[in-house]
This record gives sequence, C-alpha cells and structure tokens, in this order.
Amino acid sequence: MSAAAAPAHVAPGPDAPKVVTVDHLAMAFGARTLFRDVSFEVRAGEVFVILGGSGCGKSTLLKLMIGLFPPTAGTIEVLGNDIVTASGDARERMLKRIGVMWQSGALFGSMTLLENIMLPLEAHTKMPEEARREAARIKLGMVGLGDASNRLPAEISGGMAKRAGIARAMALDPPLLFLDEPSAGLDPITSAGLDKLIQDLARDLGTTFIVVTHELQSILAIGDRCIMLDKDAQGMIATGNPRELRDTATHPVVRAFFRREAM
Ligand SMILES: Nc1ncnc2c1ncn2[C@@H]1O[C@H](COP(=O)(O)OP(=O)(O)OP(=O)(O)O)[C@@H](O)[C@H]1O
Ligand SMILES: [Mg+2]
Repeated sequence: MSAAAAPAHVAPGPDAPKVVTVDHLAMAFGARTLFRDVSFEVRAGEVFVILGGSGCGKSTLLKLMIGLFPPTAGTIEVLGNDIVTASGDARERMLKRIGVMWQSGALFGSMTLLENIMLPLEAHTKMPEEARREAARIKLGMVGLGDASNRLPAEISGGMAKRAGIARAMALDPPLLFLDEPSAGLDPITSAGLDKLIQDLARDLGTTFIVVTHELQSILAIGDRCIMLDKDAQGMIATGNPRELRDTATHPVVRAFFRREAM
C-alpha cells in the first residue's frame, strides 16, 4: 500500500449516536423458534457484522430491522423510529433512509444496470429523469461499474451484480445500509474489493453498515463489532470486536469459527 493511501476506517466510539437499538427481540415462525432474547445496538458510522450458521436467522433479523414483518416479542428502533409500530408516512420516510442489498441480489433482468439504479429514485423522489440518470451514473461509478451502466444483469459477472446491488441500495444516499452476504460466492480478490468499498463508504460518507457474512477474512477486515447467532442456542452466543473474539473467545462454537477449527 502506498504512503498516500487513505487511512483505514476508524471504528466510531461508544459516544457515537445509536442508529439501531434491538431490545429483547424474539422471533418464531409458527412452532419454530429462531431466537428468544437478542439485544444489541449499532452506532453511527459502524460496520456491524451479523454472523452465524446457515438457517440461524440472520436474514430474518435483517428483515425484522426493516420492518418487513413483526417480531414475536421485543422492540427495534431504527434511525430514531420504532420500526415495529411505524406506519404510513413515518414508515415511508424511514425506509427512504435505509438501503438494502438482498442475499439474492434481485436486479431486474430486463433493465440495464443504470435503469436498475434509477428505480428507487423514481419510486421515492420527484427528481427529473436526467437528474436520476446522473445520480445513478455516480453510484455505478462509486462501485467501479461506470463502464457497465448499459449492460443487462445477465451480461455481468456475479461480483459485478453484487456491486450493482450495493449501488442500487445506495441510490437514495441512505445513512444506513443492510447487506446480506455481499461477498458470498465471489473470488477472494473481488471480495477484498467489496470490503474496501464498504470501508471507504463508512469512512468517507459516515454510512453505517449492517452486514451479514460468513467470510472470516472479511469479518476480521471490516467488522468494528459483531454478533454471532446460533441455532441450537436460539440466540446470541457472542458479541464484540471480531479480532478480540478471535483472540479471547471461550465459547466452543465462537472459538471454532474464529480460529477456523473443526469442532
Ligand atoms: N417467511 C418465513 N416463514 C417461515 N419460515 C421462515 C421464513 N423465513 C425464514 N424462515 C425459516 O427461518 C429459518 C432462518 O432463516 P434465515 O433465512 O433467516 O436464515 P439465515 O441465517 O439467513 O441462513 P443462510 O445463512 O442460509 O442465509 C430457516 O429455517 C427458514 O426456513
Ligand atoms: Mg440468509
């Protein structure tokens, strides 16, 4: 790395304002309990990582945090609003300030990348078309897809689709971005590029990230703090700075994960 490189993202301290507060959250689908008592806070400018094995409820937790469905119990405050009870205009205003990149990517196949990124601007703003086009171009440039704006999703690689998904999530300049497994299935170099993008945005724009990922290297590189969910424990088995957890965790599952050991 050259001496002129931008400084790394610095984790915000405990005095930074709270962007998300999850308190005594419980979630079940019918008789199937995912978690019983999950509490954590996410602070402005933080890169907050949600970890855990497949099926433990990570994507469900993201969906709860954007109010897609109500929890079984507990409260969730996002950007100063109670997401569980918010409705109408208040809910719409809050959702405009949240960007989401879904696990599946979910770009519209019949639209170019540029049109995909313009979509949230069309739905949520009164910007004229040329301004939307320009804003979408800027977002694609930020994720390194400036040259691919006229391509269809079928004409780009998996890594490019992930980056386009992030560009679309960023379309409305949200202060809070949720990314569900942004680097799953990507080669290590592309994946490292995504990590850098997340860190740059957190540092340069102060964007708060809540990221679901299994990639240990990524977690250690970008995570300011994390929580680890566990299916058997039906809840959180760890919380803290990922590098500290790697060095000090005593819970066997947490230790095994961070040290990449078989159990
Ligand atoms: N809408 C739903 N209705 C019923 N069950 C659901 C629903 N959504 C998820 N589940 C179940 O809840 C459990 C947790 O699902 P979730 O998608 O949150 O897991 P995950 O931790 O994101 O897993 P992965 O790492 O594989 O993405 C799974 O058993 C899933 O089948
Ligand atoms: Mg998931």
